[in-house]
Amino acid sequence: MKQVGEPMSRVDGRLKVTGAAKYSAEIQLPDLVHAVLVESTIAKGRIKHIDSKLAERAPGVLAVLSHVNAPKVPGYAQRDHPTEPSTRGQPLRVFYDDKVYSNGQPIAMVVADTLERARYAAKLVKVEYTKEEHQTNFHANVEKAVLPSQAKKNPKSPLADYVRGTEDAYKTAAIKLESEYVMPSETHNPMELQAITAHWEATDKLTVYDKTQAVKGTQRAFANEWKIPAENVKVIAKFVGGAFGNGLHTWPHETAAIIAAKKVNRPVKLMLTREQMFTMVGYRPYTWQKVGMSATPDGKLTAITHEAIGQTSSYEEFTESTLQQTKMMYACPNITTRYRILPLDVSTPIWMRGPGEATGAFALESAMDEMAHQLNLDPIEFRMRNHTDTDPDKKLPWSTKYLKECMQLGAERIGWKNRSLTPGAVRAGEWQVGYGMGVGTFGANQGGAGARARLLPDGTIIIQSATTDIGPGTGTAMVQIAADALGITPNRIKFELGDSAFPNSPSQGGSSTISSVGSAVKEVCFTLKQELQKLGGAAFSGAKTENVMIGEEGISLPGNAAAVSFADLLQQHQLESLVVTAEAEPGKERRHYSLYSFSVHFVEVQVHPVTGVIRITKIVSCADAGTIINEKTAANQMIGGAVGGIGMALMEAAVIDHRYGRYVTKDLAEYHVPVHGDIPKAEVIFINKPDLISNPLGTKGIGEIALIGMAPAVANAVFNATGKRIRNLPITPDKLL
Ligand code: MOS
Repeated sequence: MKQVGEPMSRVDGRLKVTGAAKYSAEIQLPDLVHAVLVESTIAKGRIKHIDSKLAERAPGVLAVLSHVNAPKVPGYAQRDHPTEPSTRGQPLRVFYDDKVYSNGQPIAMVVADTLERARYAAKLVKVEYTKEEHQTNFHANVEKAVLPSQAKKNPKSPLADYVRGTEDAYKTAAIKLESEYVMPSETHNPMELQAITAHWEATDKLTVYDKTQAVKGTQRAFANEWKIPAENVKVIAKFVGGAFGNGLHTWPHETAAIIAAKKVNRPVKLMLTREQMFTMVGYRPYTWQKVGMSATPDGKLTAITHEAIGQTSSYEEFTESTLQQTKMMYACPNITTRYRILPLDVSTPIWMRGPGEATGAFALESAMDEMAHQLNLDPIEFRMRNHTDTDPDKKLPWSTKYLKECMQLGAERIGWKNRSLTPGAVRAGEWQVGYGMGVGTFGANQGGAGARARLLPDGTIIIQSATTDIGPGTGTAMVQIAADALGITPNRIKFELGDSAFPNSPSQGGSSTISSVGSAVKEVCFTLKQELQKLGGAAFSGAKTENVMIGEEGISLPGNAAAVSFADLLQQHQLESLVVTAEAEPGKERRHYSLYSFSVHFVEVQVHPVTGVIRITKIVSCADAGTIINEKTAANQMIGGAVGGIGMALMEAAVIDHRYGRYVTKDLAEYHVPVHGDIPKAEVIFINKPDLISNPLGTKGIGEIALIGMAPAVANAVFNATGKRIRNLPITPDKLL
């Protein structure tokens, strides 16, 4: 039976729910000790003095480290980030000098024999500062926004100012709008806190059990920092309890743990606190946007201008693709985009859940709704009238695009026919009822990846690749892909991940894991068949590799011809097992097409006119993401994304008290995320048509489109319910009163 498409339960589900799955903070090693970080309490300035005497004398303390006495990191002399091309500048060098760049910056560390003693002693470290005036207020500093240096150097950079047709053409149009939108900083807040267990096995051999989305990237980063060969760095991340982007590159706390392990010459465990998750592992940057839009009376877009300014730190330029979709989403002759970044005295942001595209979609898809309202047109009809069958930016055909189908299917399921064009016209008892929709898109990316397969005499096949599974069920999908490629049942296949010693894989991000790693897995299965055929000798040599059957106990040709057991085959060739590797690269035909996944999110809301309380009563998300490998895990991922989008729309905001430049949201009591009670039954529809331009599996990626477009769908539904257009997220009840 074909496995791809089946709603197979997670291969590691039992391990996860029984607690048998070990996460980075649960690793036990002999002589393990604990490190706790001390953070700066000012946002900008210098450390005048660190008094660590009391801490050093506290029970169980092995070391108190800071820039004054920490072992030097050899790679810190280097100017540019070694592994992260999308972030320019110098990443924060922990314990490097006396400079403070943000409030909550790690400036010292206590290492002790127990976590409790380390935590206690960390409170005894006294720090004196020379304070400088800090700037953390986005709007007070907005005129300091600059063009990213990439765009300055290269006018063809996707971040550079872009004009198609006439610049700012909307300004002279008769039917136009101009709206500003604000996306607050948001933090990823996965359930699992960031944690690392670092162990120097020799002076030039490092092993880390690390929470990361990229075991290979982490290996390269630490090899660069410590100036040791990459193969001397072993990075293990077997289980990751969510990440949403904050594990896409390494952070200072990881280096801190490695410094500590070097200093005390014992394995060191360091786990961030929930509060430290707000300042040490990135966040979605505070972003201001403005959309100018014009249309003809019959609903044809004539111009869009989309501007964005995203926050970054004073020491690194973080950029993201906030405006990319505006260039390609709709048929529109005149497009202008302008992207700027604003350095503030804060820590550096990183991609978060659907990253810049999700931020950009909030503005674009809200503006589309505003224009539809102005035209007195149904928002779906407005989008249909501006549908484009080729990519108007790249001037290439889409590989596949079923966006219209998504709109039609989703509209039926949500009950769009119950929607009124007039806001506030539908009621359920005393609640106002509204319907909204938003479109999401994200590049159908693929990176080069490798995989290794090992066949054991009993017919078990172990496949390995250095990817991770931050939650979507990567291992499960890979087993299904391999089962079909080999024509065997999934229970004979083990997929292993999360180890830098495995064949290369890109980081798990950008919705590309199945396309990248899945292609390599498919390839390695074919290679395994070829090798088995070769081992089979003359009896198999004339056959097509596709026709070689892999049975329970051995290989054969159709009709059980030439059957030979794995054990015999291996023995004949004096092999204990058969090991093959393969790599998969993005196909050349991709260059002639524009490849994107698409989604449409539909929301039904009820708003209470007296209290402003918003209830989400129904969600339908439809995805055009190519082949769906596993209906169950893919639907889980879509629902997770939709929930994240509801968080973005209604709850999430990381808030800084600008007097101190310090976050006041520092745990999940103040930083709100949706809980079960906030979410109704969510329906997911998959178009599930393979995109064979994308890769041989036909996948396009789900991770980001699960969320992109959801927040504007909620905001548009709230408008439809109340007539109130909220352009400043999150839409809290006070904004509706
Ligand atoms: Mo993601 S923001 O691709 O982890």
